[in-house]
Amino acid sequence: MAPLARWRAASVVALAAIVCLAGAAPAAAAGNKTGQVTVFWGRNKDEGTLREACDSGLYTMVIISFLDVFGPNGKYHLDISGHPIAGVGDDIKHCQYIGVPVSLSIGGFGSSYSLPSKKAALDLFDYLWNAYFGGSKPGVHRPFGDAWLDGVDLFLEHGTAADRYDVLALELAKHNIRGGPGKPLHLTATPRCEFPPAGYLKKAVDTGIFERVHVRIYDDGDCEAYWHLRWDEWTAAYPATRFYVGMTASEMTHGWVHPKNVYYDVAPSAQKADNYGGFMIWDRYYDKLSNYTSMVKYYA
Ligand SMILES: *[C@@H]1O[C@H](CO)[C@@H](O)[C@H](O)[C@H]1NC(C)=O
Ligand SMILES: *[C@@H]1O[C@H](CO)[C@@H](O)[C@H](O)[C@H]1NC(C)=O
Repeated sequence: MAPLARWRAASVVALAAIVCLAGAAPAAAAGNKTGQVTVFWGRNKDEGTLREACDSGLYTMVIISFLDVFGPNGKYHLDISGHPIAGVGDDIKHCQYIGVPVSLSIGGFGSSYSLPSKKAALDLFDYLWNAYFGGSKPGVHRPFGDAWLDGVDLFLEHGTAADRYDVLALELAKHNIRGGPGKPLHLTATPRCEFPPAGYLKKAVDTGIFERVHVRIYDDGDCEAYWHLRWDEWTAAYPATRFYVGMTASEMTHGWVHPKNVYYDVAPSAQKADNYGGFMIWDRYYDKLSNYTSMVKYYA
């Protein structure tokens, strides 16, 4: 491009940005945006493939959900709502190739998971490592073939004081290899906004090794009403962790935030924290129907 044309193109972009901002400047200046948007995938067959989610260009990370059965009896089960498993491995590699890491969330809304001993936690680590990451233990089935995932997310709707998610987290953290032949393992959690969190989760997050926490501010009366307070408590308690605001893309879900209020309230409030990380959107299915992320991603 000739210098003049390049200058013109740049000034058109700059002008567009100024016009855009002049239309609706928030009262308080927002803190630093990151542009990071994480989405959950795997809760509805009609949401389209993982590859399509990544190719949409809307997300900077996708979390497959859920590994919904694990525990002391050594049984493991992946539930991705009837999506064909064949092909997911190639989609993961495609996502990674275009720069979108893919993680796996454990837990969910079912009742068939627990981790009530150190041994159960170490066994779960062993299983995860060999089935979805760098391990290759004979006899351990790899649902996604040789695709090597980028992280593990804890999405725990129930638990007991005996649960040892701290042991699992520490073991996973040992395998967060930056540089060398391995690769980073993003350790995340996606709790309701409640603070302090339930003991079994607190014990894990207190290790201080979680890279990200996605705080859900929807589908829970207290979170909808008091999320600003809870957000401040979470972000202050774990300065080494990046915090993401978890929002629903479904207008029908309690706690849905109108995009305009994301702009005027959620984003500037959340971005006051030095360890603000971005947005988490639940989930790809609703997002595809509502185009929520395409509206709010500019505020992330
Ligand atoms: C925003 O970025 C500036 C400049 O990089 C930095 O000095 C400041 O601490 C950041 N603020 C927050 C809230 O992260
Ligand atoms: C979302 O975007 C798609 C593709 O651009 C469009 O077909 C659909 O009507 C949009 N849905 C809504 C609710 O705006």
